[in-house]
Amino acid sequence: MKATHLFLLTILFNATALFAQKKPVSTASQKMNTFIGGLMAKMTVDEKIGQLNLLTGGEATTGAAVSTNVEVKIKNGQVGGIFSLTTPARIRKAQEIAVTQTRLKIPIIFGQDVIHGYKTTFPIPLGLSCTWDLPLIQRTARIAAIEATADGLNWTFSPMVDVSRDPRWGRISEGSGEDTYLGSEIAKAMVRGYQGDDLSKYNTMMACVKHFALYGAAEAGRDYNTTDMSLDRMYNEYLPPYKAAIDAGAGSVMTSFNDINGVPATANKWLMTDLLRKQWGFNGFVVTDYTAVNELIDHGLGDLQTVSALSLNAGVDMDMVGEGFLTTLKKSLKEGKVTIQQIDRACRLVLEAKYKLGLFEDPFRYCDEERARTEILKPEHLTFAREVAGQSFVLLKNDKNLLPLKKSGTVALIGPLADTGPNMPGTWSVNSDLVNTKSLLQGMQEVLGSHVKVLHSLGSNLVSDTAYQKRATMFGRDIPRDNRPEEEIISEAVDIAKKSDVVIAALGESSEMSGESSSRTNLELPDVQRRLLHALLRTGKPVVLVLFSGRPLVLTWEQANVPAILNVWFGGTEAAKAITDVVFGDVNPSGKLTTTFPQNVGQIPLYYSHKNTGRPLGEGMWFSKFRSNYLDVSNEPLYPFGYGLSYTTFGYSNLVLNGRNFKAGQSITASVTVKNTGDKAGKEIVQLYLQDLVGSSTRPVKQLKGFQKISLEPGESKVVSFKISATDLKFYNSALKYVAEPGDFKVFIGGNSRDVLTSQFTFSL
Ligand code: NOJ
Repeated sequence: MKATHLFLLTILFNATALFAQKKPVSTASQKMNTFIGGLMAKMTVDEKIGQLNLLTGGEATTGAAVSTNVEVKIKNGQVGGIFSLTTPARIRKAQEIAVTQTRLKIPIIFGQDVIHGYKTTFPIPLGLSCTWDLPLIQRTARIAAIEATADGLNWTFSPMVDVSRDPRWGRISEGSGEDTYLGSEIAKAMVRGYQGDDLSKYNTMMACVKHFALYGAAEAGRDYNTTDMSLDRMYNEYLPPYKAAIDAGAGSVMTSFNDINGVPATANKWLMTDLLRKQWGFNGFVVTDYTAVNELIDHGLGDLQTVSALSLNAGVDMDMVGEGFLTTLKKSLKEGKVTIQQIDRACRLVLEAKYKLGLFEDPFRYCDEERARTEILKPEHLTFAREVAGQSFVLLKNDKNLLPLKKSGTVALIGPLADTGPNMPGTWSVNSDLVNTKSLLQGMQEVLGSHVKVLHSLGSNLVSDTAYQKRATMFGRDIPRDNRPEEEIISEAVDIAKKSDVVIAALGESSEMSGESSSRTNLELPDVQRRLLHALLRTGKPVVLVLFSGRPLVLTWEQANVPAILNVWFGGTEAAKAITDVVFGDVNPSGKLTTTFPQNVGQIPLYYSHKNTGRPLGEGMWFSKFRSNYLDVSNEPLYPFGYGLSYTTFGYSNLVLNGRNFKAGQSITASVTVKNTGDKAGKEIVQLYLQDLVGSSTRPVKQLKGFQKISLEPGESKVVSFKISATDLKFYNSALKYVAEPGDFKVFIGGNSRDVLTSQFTFSL
């Protein structure tokens, strides 16, 4: 081994040795061990390998391969789990085969991508994160679990906790944005929501943290692309949300598709065994992503037998769809390429998951037709979905308080996203009822009734290129396309705009323009939509841009030219009503961005917690020769992390610390007065950031360390306090030790990461 490798391994071990705690074995664990030990003693090698096989039930596939002969394989004891098969009846049928027709009657685990709600669909995760409301987020996961388990499922491939700072990457929509701290808090809330306090309850399900690891750092934002990252960045910025989810008790982990510093995650022993299990103490099972074992062949690691053995050896337990484990592990065992201990480890962990879910006690625990009838799409779930969506929207601009609109007169609702129900739930809403989800037009008409006359016109196609539109409207998410000449379509919309008091332009991305395999290089509004917007603005009518997107778009032109912009992401089942609530003032927007919006694509990756560099640009400056900047654009984002407006205004004053120094073991409190200086009640997300001014390694210019969401009546003030302790100052140093170093720290508190009050303290050991 090279000296450098040895050094790296040593520091990697040091870094996380503190996580490796030995827990006493509880009576419940002893009981489980005895049960599983007894069962495994009866199992043949084939039966053990069968448990490592995860097949798709075929209702929703997310890759080229599909599983075949599923029933036969169940009978042969070759199936450990099935995903994308739903309803108690279908699941019961499959489970019955497993527990009556196989030799050892081992039940199957049933999974699904329950990502942001089940049938009641909540906003896409990126939108959900903009609520900064942990109890609310946890409740979305709880409701998702109630509905999914009522439909027969007991395992969800969520939460997706990949930090991402590249909006070109379509899957930025599925995570909680760019921040490590916020992402970690949300990861915990989601796991708690899904799993509750007892996994064996009929209405809790096992979480699966994904995609382990670093999937959000794909080069150039191209999906599935290589990741190459320093250990500093990995430990301090990208790994904590996975660790947080695991510490919250997540029962399973999914590997990511990408290469990590030369070794793809699915074959990465350091990642899956040394870090995840030995250092972090993870005791659940690891499943691959869709055919990720087979994809190791294309990564260039060998043939199917070789890569399957590599993956098992690395610490992977269950093989999703590819059947490499099923078809090659026995041969590898005979040839000494894998050991029976490795197969036993994987089999035991899969069986333990089933045990924890209570499936050995009652394999039909989640197959209750009555629950399926009564607990899915309950009115209170829908009411809550509407409330959540309303809190996820981010008001980006509101010149002269154009919003909220009055509930009277005539409104022109124009644009390709105005009348498309199937595009409301957003990506990864495989269980949503797309056909019956209300479009914005329908929602507005229903909520506003006869108070407001709503006129509608398509105005433009989604994109000018038909092939692009086809790719961007897959999976039943069609958007009407008008093949008349563009001028005709626009002129019809302009006529309607002229007859109205105000124009609402529903523009942006279709739901399939973000999500998996939906990377983009141009993040501006498609040209054809931009031309429509120009024409609408030329009418002189006030224009409100209601912007749908699964990622930060580049809105520099819109910010300069459109008076009001409301970013609504994809708000789920009740999106249409929730947008109406906000646009017409029944709900005051309170969402704040969890990803930086760049001025142009060339600035990417652009994120608030960057390093200072040795040649930083002075505050408020644009260009200075021999400084770290661009000739053609300032370093500033268009909208910073944490940003979002309200229909009221908030004033921040009086940032005080209750001391100037504190020592390890003590804490210091930073307080600020926040006042509602406007004339409407509103919610404000108060954010605390810290900067370590001198470190043994370079430290970010700001890091989020706390936040509070408060409600204020007009004129009301509140003092908001944050306790800061040594834990908030800790980071992984260059030896990967998790330390708080003595020295000076800046404190920033404000309503976003840019506009803050500042103070300073000294920490000593
Ligand atoms: C591929 C995706 O990367 C992953 O997120 C998902 O859970 C699986 N397919 C299963 O659908």
